[in-house]
Amino acid sequence: MGLSGHYGPYSNEELVGRAIKDRRDQVVLATKFGLVSHAGGGPGVIDSSPANTRAAVEGSLKRLGTDYIDLYYQHRVDPNTPIEDTVGALAELVAEGKVRYIGLSEAGPDTIRRAHSVHPIAALQTEYSLWTRDPKAELLPLLRQLGIGFVPYSPLGHGFLTGEIKSPDQLSDDDWRKTNPRFTGENFQRNLRIVDEVKAVAAELDATPAQIALAWLLAQGNDIAPIPGTKRAARVEENIAADGIELNANQLERLNNLTPAVGERHDEGNMSVIER
Ligand SMILES: NC(=O)c1ccc[n+]([C@@H]2O[C@H](COP(=O)([O-])OP(=O)(O)OC[C@H]3O[C@@H](n4cnc5c(N)ncnc54)[C@H](OP(=O)(O)O)[C@@H]3O)[C@@H](O)[C@H]2O)c1
Repeated sequence: MGLSGHYGPYSNEELVGRAIKDRRDQVVLATKFGLVSHAGGGPGVIDSSPANTRAAVEGSLKRLGTDYIDLYYQHRVDPNTPIEDTVGALAELVAEGKVRYIGLSEAGPDTIRRAHSVHPIAALQTEYSLWTRDPKAELLPLLRQLGIGFVPYSPLGHGFLTGEIKSPDQLSDDDWRKTNPRFTGENFQRNLRIVDEVKAVAAELDATPAQIALAWLLAQGNDIAPIPGTKRAARVEENIAADGIELNANQLERLNNLTPAVGERHDEGNMSVIER
């Protein structure tokens, strides 16, 4: 179970806390820290200082109604705190039993190496999908060398790869994708070509495009655990069933050869806090 309850007002963590009450031992719980400064800066202020990391975990534990988090990720690398200090604080939390495994998100190779030398890193969460294939060249080999699992976020391209979004007009005015470079103007139209091939493979396998996008990621290795997001239970089931889909060599080849998306994967502000 992955959470987005760490942005504030933290209602997701409280909600999940209620859902796992009395069955904590049956779930693997992951959440993140580092995008809220608890020393007064508030939401949106990147802070992975040891003190802030500790304040964040205490808040999450309380809201989740548990005394440990299985996988605790740093959300974005903090340019003002050496990663060694952050991971040092996390290692203390591991020793205290409050955190089981440490994760990073959108960290670059150098940060990953430095972090891993302080305490083993269990997982890296970074965008990876049919239209964002950047991690394949450098990150994946490094993660495999170090024995770190990979968690591709936005594996459905925020819904684009499912073929359900055919025009930007389908998005409401307050939908954040309205300003995502891949969903705007000419880029939107050009990116639809990627979806056409995904749909073609889906038709051959009697699967849905969402399942093909996930099956392609799962075919990249056993160390890859994509986390599609949805608000609907039926789609959770549909997406889980992707695990049973086998792409043949020809289908894999066609998907591998797709031109990656046109347009940056986040807007300028969000790209500036991603390590590359
Ligand atoms: N580490 C990070 O910095 C970071 C950044 C972004 C996202 N994430 C995480 O990654 C996860 C997913 O990312 P995401 O939500 O941006 O993108 P995503 O998983 O690529 O796409 C989610 C979108 O696809 C739709 N969808 C899901 N399953 C579908 C299906 N079977 N058929 C048709 N449409 C389907 C959903 O709509 P409905 O909800 O209406 O079903 C939603 O709009 C989240 O858990 C999020 O927290 C992490």
